[in-house]
Amino acid sequence: MALDDHITIGIETSCDESGIALYSNKNGLISNQLFSQISLHSEYGGVVPELASRDHIKRVFPLINKALNDAQITIKDLDGIAYTSGPGLSGALLVGSSIAKSLSWSLKIPAIGINHMEGHLLAPMIDNNISFPLLSLLVSGGHSMIVEVERIGKYRILGETLDDSIGEAFDKTSKILGLGYPGGPEIQKLAQTVKVNRLSFPIPMNNKPNLDFSFSGLKTYAMNFYTNNPTKSAEIAKAFEVAAIKSLINKCSKAIDITGYNKLVISGGVSANKHLREEFNVLSKRKKVEVFFPSLDLCTDNGAMIAFAGSWRLRNGFFDKDDQILINPRWSLERLSPIPDEVSN
Ligand code: KG4
Ligand code: ZN
Repeated sequence: MALDDHITIGIETSCDESGIALYSNKNGLISNQLFSQISLHSEYGGVVPELASRDHIKRVFPLINKALNDAQITIKDLDGIAYTSGPGLSGALLVGSSIAKSLSWSLKIPAIGINHMEGHLLAPMIDNNISFPLLSLLVSGGHSMIVEVERIGKYRILGETLDDSIGEAFDKTSKILGLGYPGGPEIQKLAQTVKVNRLSFPIPMNNKPNLDFSFSGLKTYAMNFYTNNPTKSAEIAKAFEVAAIKSLINKCSKAIDITGYNKLVISGGVSANKHLREEFNVLSKRKKVEVFFPSLDLCTDNGAMIAFAGSWRLRNGFFDKDDQILINPRWSLERLSPIPDEVSN
């Protein structure tokens, strides 16, 4: 394998998106294919794990073929198979890991189990050259965390949610307001119709000195307000969005003061939110920190972030050392192997 020019495939099946991508460390992202199961789950208002696994099985091989054709390469040109081995839904993770390990075994090339949250965390680096150390804000359907990143793989969680993740709160509030799934884009759309914001909701964890989040109280506040004011769904969507994002701003501002870091990368599905991006750009100017986001298509789950993380790990000698099909549904970011400082950049 020529390490200065290798191609890694990324296989993402941790939840409700089947993502397959090809990352060349010479030419960057050379294909990015996605099949979203949103329409499959929307009638249930959330992800049904069994349906998710069954659908991943149908999608992965056609998507691999599509990616190879798109990049005009063959399967023999691959140098590594990166796959999401956790955190996520067990059955869904098993689909991706089984296919990855089988390909690795038959092609005799390494498989690299990737932590899904590390994939999100590194996604802004696909299009931006960002040096370490830095702060990361991870805001997805499963997590809300502020992470200190010393280098790739060396992560310290400074704050996380005590109850619902922010994405979950967007999804549940959307359901309460009778909107669709996933709730984030629906709330954003409705909130944008409010020109003058007259309603304000309490900002979660505003007076607490720590860096933890809590979003379930805000969701309940929105629910109670809606019960008493059923015609005000747009104002409620707006007030919810503003309060949730203000909470992120407050905690990140504190994290910047505590650590003295001047770089903040923001990723995960909720980082696609327009109001969030506007508010963090204001924070960037106010605190004189550089703020980075992934491109919009790389905020929610995708194979590109897994291929990218896998490429980095493979180049630094980190790949699966066993032939077992392994998943890690509750894998914490703090339990990853760090890539040595002198080779990680
Ligand atoms: O990262 P992701 O695709 O999946 C997980 O790893 O969890 O994040 C999905 C979450 C959902 O809760 C969805 O409602 C939220 O991201 N989301 C948004 C937006 N787009 C997606 N939340 C707020 N505003 C958006 N524009
Ligand atoms: Zn995700």
